[in-house]
Amino acid sequence: MTEKDFISNNLDTSNLETGKFTWKTPSNIALVKYWGKKKHQIPENTSISFTLDACFTLTTLTFEKRHSELISESRHNFEVYFEGKKKEDFKPKIATFFDRIEQYCPFLKEYDYKIESRNSFPHSSGIASSASGMSALALCVMSLEKSLSGVEMTDEYFYKKASFLARLGSGSACRSVKGSIVVWGKHGEVEGSSNLYGVEFKDEVHSNFKNFHDTILLVDEGEKQVSSTVGHKLMFGHPFAEKRFEQAEENISKIKEILKSGDLKAFVNIVESEALTLHAMMMTSNPYFILMKPNTLKIINKIWEFRAETDLNLCFTLDAGANVHLLYPENEREVVNKFVVKELIQYCQNNHYICDRIGKGAKLLN
Ligand code: DP6
Repeated sequence: MTEKDFISNNLDTSNLETGKFTWKTPSNIALVKYWGKKKHQIPENTSISFTLDACFTLTTLTFEKRHSELISESRHNFEVYFEGKKKEDFKPKIATFFDRIEQYCPFLKEYDYKIESRNSFPHSSGIASSASGMSALALCVMSLEKSLSGVEMTDEYFYKKASFLARLGSGSACRSVKGSIVVWGKHGEVEGSSNLYGVEFKDEVHSNFKNFHDTILLVDEGEKQVSSTVGHKLMFGHPFAEKRFEQAEENISKIKEILKSGDLKAFVNIVESEALTLHAMMMTSNPYFILMKPNTLKIINKIWEFRAETDLNLCFTLDAGANVHLLYPENEREVVNKFVVKELIQYCQNNHYICDRIGKGAKLLN
C-alpha cells in the first residue's frame, strides 16, 4: 500500500453531529531498535517490538460538529485533558499530529474535539508515553472515520491506517496498535512489512515466548534527558550510522529465526546487543550523551552475574533513557522475581518498578 491509499475523500459528515470513542492502547518495547529516521517519519531501519500489557494509555476523543462558518479556519480545534487536568503544554505535539494527518483525514476540521487521556504508569516515570498516547489518539480518529465511511471498512484497513496515522505522531506508536509482536519497516524476510505502518509478526513463534515478562526498573523517574526527536537527528551524519542500519536489518533476520526456534540464549545476545548499540550510537554522536546512570550499569552487571550463576535467560533492554527493562520467560518467573526483589530494586528510584508482560494490542472500550 502507498500513502495515497490512506487518503479518505468525500466522507459525509452531515449525519454525525457528536459522539465519543475510548481506546486503551499499550506501550511497546523494541527488541531491535528504531533509531534514525528520514523525512515524514520513515524509519532508517526495520524494528521489532513486544507489545506490553500493563503499561497503557486510555484516551477518550469526544467530537462535536463545528459551525460551518468555522470549518475553513486553518487550525484544528481541540482541548486536552491529562488525568483530569487541562494540559496546554500537550497541545503543540497534538497540533503537529493533526496537521500531519490532515491530508489523510480531511474530515477532521469539521469537528471540535475534547481529548481526555490517562496512563496506567506514572507520567514522570521516564517511560515514554508517546507510543501508547499517539496510537490511542490515532485509533480514536480511525473510529470516527469508520463511523463516517458509508461503506463497510475492513479490519485490515482500519488497523493499517491507524498504525499509519500513529506513525505520523510518533514512530514507535505504529507498533502499539495490533498484535503481540510487531514489525515496522520494510524487510525482505517479513511478509507485508512496510515503512508506512507496523504489521503483526505472523510467523510461527515458539512457546518460550508465550507470556514473556518485562519488569521495568525505574532507575530515573525524571523527564527524558534527550527527546527522541533530538535523538533521531543525531543519526544524521553519524559516522557509524550506515553500518548500524545494516546491522539492524541483519538482526531482524536473526531474531525472526530465534522467535521460531525458541533459542533463548541467542535471544538474550541479540536483545542486549541492540540495547547497548542504541546507547553506543548516542555516546558516539555529536553532541554526545550518556543516558545510562550508575545504577543502570549496576543492574546490568548484576544481571550478568545472575546469568553466569544460574544459566537462566533473564536479559535487559533499554530505551533512550536510564530505566532497565528485564525480559524473561514465564517458566523462570519465580526465580527472577526473587532475584529482582532481593538484588535489583535497591537501584530503582524510590524502589519503583512495574511488572509487565507481553500483551495483545489495543482495545476499543465503547
Ligand atoms: C529508543 O518513537 O519516540 O524507543 O518517532 O521521534 O516520536 P519519534 O521517536 P520515538 O523513538 C523511539 C526510540 C526508541 C527505540 C524504539 O522504540 O524502537
